[in-house]
Amino acid sequence: DDSLRAAARGSGVRIGTAVDMSALAADTPYREGVAREFDTVTPENVMKWEAVEPQPGVYDWAAADRLVDFARQNGQLVRGHTLVWHSQNPAWLTEATYTPAQLRTILRNHIFAEMGHFKGRIWAWDVANEVFNEDGTLRDTIWLRALGPGYIADAFRWAHQADPKALLFLNDYNNEGINAKSDAYFALVKQLRAQGVPVHGYGMQGHLAVHYGFPDTVLENVRRFDKLGLKTAFTEVDVRMQLPTDSAKVQAQAEGFGSLLRACLLVKHCVSYTVWGFTDKYSWVPGVFEGEGSATPADENFQVKPAWNTLRDTFLLV
Ligand code: G3I
Repeated sequence: DDSLRAAARGSGVRIGTAVDMSALAADTPYREGVAREFDTVTPENVMKWEAVEPQPGVYDWAAADRLVDFARQNGQLVRGHTLVWHSQNPAWLTEATYTPAQLRTILRNHIFAEMGHFKGRIWAWDVANEVFNEDGTLRDTIWLRALGPGYIADAFRWAHQADPKALLFLNDYNNEGINAKSDAYFALVKQLRAQGVPVHGYGMQGHLAVHYGFPDTVLENVRRFDKLGLKTAFTEVDVRMQLPTDSAKVQAQAEGFGSLLRACLLVKHCVSYTVWGFTDKYSWVPGVFEGEGSATPADENFQVKPAWNTLRDTFLLV
């Protein structure tokens, strides 16, 4: 068995992937790859608020349920993604329609409805996603404007009530190394834990780019969160590049994937490492960054790249 899953066994770190539900339904090699290679799955889109509550009070859990069932059949855990975010909210959810008091009730109800629906079936939830700006100030969102900064603590308290066994994570990008954003997270997490707020983990998305280079303080950063007793998860790793690819870029990409996994394996409480798609056939990158792509560890034909072997070898070395 030369799967990533087999390589990760015994390391204490689970290997995961984001899952595109249309691909899971339509593409057999994709489906087999998800089942064979990974310990955990994260829905790329189908648990987001706009997907699960398209009209107020009208819920659609069908696609998300399919993923949870698939995971169960394959002995996999699910990372829930995501409850509180500024993006991919339903069109009906606007500040023009609701008062702040109503928005508070709506957010609370959302967390109880979604976590209640999946209660006991989700291993870890990204409760609050991307709450900080790059400079470490809180992002200006519907939640900050309507509810003030306390919305983060409230969301975690509600989430813990809704499903007391689920691990509850903060999650963000550009927070892998030490910088203003990760410093702000460190301060927030300390403060929340001092207040008894149930935050269990810190998610680093890990959207890297070959042409920007890779942060060199990842281990140092993970260590400070680890020392607080907080779990770490790398939640959305991909390493994009400017097209066309060449062997230098592809080798650099492997180093990007490997450097995050090494940091994860070198601390006590890093629980999972998730790639944001495992084949370029279904990657969000080309649609968002013009001229860029090849961001996942396997190409459009499921042929593995050096990054894939680096992940496997890095697991096997520990
Ligand atoms: O569902 C509609 C479909 O009906 C329509 O035909 C199609 C036409 O564009 O759009 C579909 O919606 C798309 C959706 O993905 C589902 O496929 C949206 O346009 C598209 O913008 C959306 O992109 C997702 C993006 O989050 C939205 O912010 C990506 O797939 C997803 O990979 C990406 O994931 C995020 C994480 O959740 C948070 N961290 C960053 C990461 C990358 O942006």
